[in-house]
Amino acid sequence: MGPAIEVTGLVHVYPDGTHALAGADLRVVAGESVAIVGQNGSGKTTLVRHLNGLLRPTEGVVRVDGRDIAGERVARLAAVVGLAFQDPDRQIFAGRVSAEVAFGPRNLGVRGGGLDDAVADALAAVGLADAADANPYDLGWARRKLLAIASVLAMRTPIVILDEPTTGQDLRGARRVQDIVRGLAAEGRTVVTISHDLRFVAETFGRVVVMREGRIVMDGEPADVFAEGAWPVLASTYLEPPLAARVGAHVGLGSTPTESTLLAALAVRG
Ligand SMILES: Nc1ncnc2c1ncn2[C@@H]1O[C@H](COP(=O)(O)OP(=O)(O)OP(=O)(O)O)[C@@H](O)[C@H]1O
Ligand SMILES: [Mg+2]
Repeated sequence: MGPAIEVTGLVHVYPDGTHALAGADLRVVAGESVAIVGQNGSGKTTLVRHLNGLLRPTEGVVRVDGRDIAGERVARLAAVVGLAFQDPDRQIFAGRVSAEVAFGPRNLGVRGGGLDDAVADALAAVGLADAADANPYDLGWARRKLLAIASVLAMRTPIVILDEPTTGQDLRGARRVQDIVRGLAAEGRTVVTISHDLRFVAETFGRVVVMREGRIVMDGEPADVFAEGAWPVLASTYLEPPLAARVGAHVGLGSTPTESTLLAALAVRG
């Protein structure tokens, strides 16, 4: 498979002079599920907002499906890359949940029964089927966050980007997000998800990219990124490895980033 996303030497300086990205390189193969982690302000959101053209590089190149997207319009990229915003209230604008979710696919030319199906499937995936007629601002923040995700799912883009999807979610909401990511991966779609929840990351993604100060400082499988030898790098970007990884290291079981690997390793030893 060719790279779905290829970011090379990406530098972004905001108009106020903030250097948010300082030469980031990232290659994501089509069908991969990748988590991006890193301290507040490390440039995660800035990086992903380049992938659908909402931000343009100060320096460097962003390729999607092998094409340099520098000259491509956001509207055209929307058919390929869906991005659910970190702050749902910067994304949501419609007065009705169903209208909000229908907006994206309608812009892509989907009509009639196909549009109804896209909306119903997306709302069901996030558990908002019963809220189709509600005003988004009558939902709580956590459900607006799920609505923002549904709006992206409804577009059925080959590349899906979720910026902190589990923030504010209870266990049920977090499980829904996990099921959504796994479902997209099973369909062979490319998923990039920013998260601060390292347990969710370890249990959901095959690859973890660690950012610090506008650069990628580590990139690998959870078993490597959360292994004891990597903890100093995690600490340098204010991340604490998942509890399973810490317990596994404490009892001398090597890298056990998820509870299931920890339990399996304990069973083998016992
Ligand atoms: N619109 C903006 N104008 C100026 N500076 C910005 C803007 N957006 C972000 N920044 C700054 O750019 C840097 C990177 O921000 P970014 O939002 O990409 O980080 P992040 O890793 O997503 O952080 P968080 O975990 O808090 O969401 C930070 O210093 C931030 O304050
Ligand atoms: Mg962010």
